[in-house]
Amino acid sequence: MGQHLQAIYDTRVAEGLLRPDPAQRAALLRLEELRERLEAPQRKGFLSRFKRAEPAGKQGLYLWGGVGRGKSMLMDLFYAHVGIRERRRVHFHAFMQEVQAALHEARKTGVDDAIKPVADAIAKDLRLLCFDEMQITDIADAMIVGRLFEKLFDAGVVVVTTSNRHPSDLYKDGLNRQLFLPFIELLQSRLEVDQLEAMADYRQDRLSGEPVYFCPLGTAAKKKVDAIWRDLTGGREEELCLEVKGREVHVPRYWAGMARASFWDLCGQPLGPADYLALVGAVKLLVLEGIPRLDASKFNEAKRFVTLIDALYEGHVRLIATAEDEPERLYLEGAGSFEFERTASRLREMQGADWGTGRDQP
Ligand SMILES: Nc1ncnc2c1ncn2[C@@H]1O[C@H](COP(=O)(O)OP(=O)(O)OP(=O)(O)O)[C@@H](O)[C@H]1O
Ligand SMILES: [Mg+2]
Repeated sequence: MGQHLQAIYDTRVAEGLLRPDPAQRAALLRLEELRERLEAPQRKGFLSRFKRAEPAGKQGLYLWGGVGRGKSMLMDLFYAHVGIRERRRVHFHAFMQEVQAALHEARKTGVDDAIKPVADAIAKDLRLLCFDEMQITDIADAMIVGRLFEKLFDAGVVVVTTSNRHPSDLYKDGLNRQLFLPFIELLQSRLEVDQLEAMADYRQDRLSGEPVYFCPLGTAAKKKVDAIWRDLTGGREEELCLEVKGREVHVPRYWAGMARASFWDLCGQPLGPADYLALVGAVKLLVLEGIPRLDASKFNEAKRFVTLIDALYEGHVRLIATAEDEPERLYLEGAGSFEFERTASRLREMQGADWGTGRDQP
């Protein structure tokens, strides 16, 4: 058995990588308990079927709280050190996309209950599932998660998840919400629900006072953004795929609520308000690289850029950008250059040290 998670945390504090936070330390105790249970020798055969009737009765942890409190960081620390192979860490949204695709396939075979084979396939050879950012906005997801998770829990899978909301606030005001309520009950009965009341929004802390808008474009700007990205993500990233009205929008680089893309990825392609809103729903911070100076010949790109910034602004998404010039000089002539003034002003405001705070419960 490895070092206690709190000891690993303390080392990071001593190294100056983390600031000491009692609430985070306390959450690690819960995670350490789970880890020890998972690492304990498994009873084979008949008895193992009873593994869900374990003493604490709980089968995992639901860690929720405001943005930047360190939930993903703690879960990643746990995940990296739990000494079992049968485990998976996945962004909740990506997981549900996989599930919907698998259900679609299973239904083609004409089975009565498509959820069962899909849940069986997920639970096979899996003892721990870690989800980052549990949130439910899609009715198709809302209608199946109850039965899906019941099967996963029954198969003995331990679940650790982060979320910005308490379980009882999931899918709030969603369509047919009464059909979703059993899922909330299931989460509350199977998981320990813990609010992480950490002292600060550490993401904000890491950025405040630091410049977040870099121009002109070039090696200097790129190096600065690379360093910020490395600091925030710890050097990890994956692809994020958003499904919007049946289409797929790929965000090349993503980690724990943060995305990184180029101006051309987001504004050089025929994307629209729905795509940008989906992005805003999935991230709390965006690194947008390579905003060029625009003119009348780039009217479409400029228009998309305005829409993107409006969506980010309304959604209080933190923006870190590299650009060819200062906001006010990005689009001087061409249709809509007057309206662009609002965009420039928003870009300025979004550079403020405490902009984007207070977004804890959207
Ligand atoms: N105690 C700490 N000291 C310094 N930095 C920290 C501390 N805790 C977390 N961080 C850093 O703050 C940033 C935000 O943390 P994290 O992503 O884990 O927050 P979160 O609670 O998951 O936020 P969200 O709800 O937005 O997903 C990360 O870069 C993380 O490494
Ligand atoms: Mg997170």
